[in-house]
Amino acid sequence: MFILIYSSFIKKWLMFRVLLLILILFRHVFGGVILAFISEARAVERVFGRGATAVRALQGVAIQVEKGRLLVLKGRSGSGKTTLLNLLGGLDRPTAGSVYFQGKEIGQLSDRERTRIRQKNMGFIFQSFGLFPLMSAAENVEFGLRLSGVPVMEWKDRVRDSLDLVGLSKRAHHRPFEMSGGEQQRCAIARAVAGKPLLLLADEPTAELDSKMGMHISHVFRRLVEEEGMSIIMTTHDPSVLEVADDVCELEDGFILGKVHPQT
Ligand SMILES: Nc1ncnc2c1ncn2[C@@H]1O[C@H](COP(=O)(O)OP(=O)(O)OP(=O)(O)O)[C@@H](O)[C@H]1O
Ligand SMILES: [Mg+2]
Repeated sequence: MFILIYSSFIKKWLMFRVLLLILILFRHVFGGVILAFISEARAVERVFGRGATAVRALQGVAIQVEKGRLLVLKGRSGSGKTTLLNLLGGLDRPTAGSVYFQGKEIGQLSDRERTRIRQKNMGFIFQSFGLFPLMSAAENVEFGLRLSGVPVMEWKDRVRDSLDLVGLSKRAHHRPFEMSGGEQQRCAIARAVAGKPLLLLADEPTAELDSKMGMHISHVFRRLVEEEGMSIIMTTHDPSVLEVADDVCELEDGFILGKVHPQT
């Protein structure tokens, strides 16, 4: 009697495990096909201010960001690149329209919910770097890892590897005011990529770099896409960055003019 109950329990348990395995496999194989876009904006408008002084920074933008690709947003100063990047990264909310991350509408979520999604899945490189002035380069990177929930035992290696990736190992213990603009920018890049986020959002990440270093960083981004499967959205004025892009979208006065694929 006991053996019968025991063997039927084992059978059910095994069936449950097999079903679970099939589910996991299905999600793994077809999940990417079903959810091909990591990020998407539909009919997005963003108006700053009110009345006569209102600025219509985005005027009905639709964009789809494919997984595992490097998308560049280009356009003249004031065309709306940073505004769009901030919306796709959940840093800001649209005045109208919808913003999705991994198929989930994030435009109307609370600040707290958006912060949680950002910390878990995204890395940011801001136009103004956003480094903590009292922390060294290594501490700035480590702080980013702490926020994204990376296990403590991985911090040391990840800090070393990411600073190495941007050629900043020798400045690991320098604070931002002891670094040049380009070094601060590379520190911000190291901090954003150390946690290996699903989506990296970079606002003019090569603006402070000379052409050789700009090229090096562009290739670092390319490698992150190809080797880590990272998705990257980047704004730029730098033509050398366009060479490593999969897709390029041009913005003008808050509109997207079109999307081209320079690699094909
Ligand atoms: N917080 C704000 N309040 C009012 N207007 C804003 C604000 N942020 C942006 N704008 C305006 O929205 C428009 C788009 O700005 P945005 O920063 O997106 O441009 P950009 O393409 O990133 O420019 P740049 O290449 O100079 O960084 C600009 O006209 C800008 O003045
Ligand atoms: Mg900008």
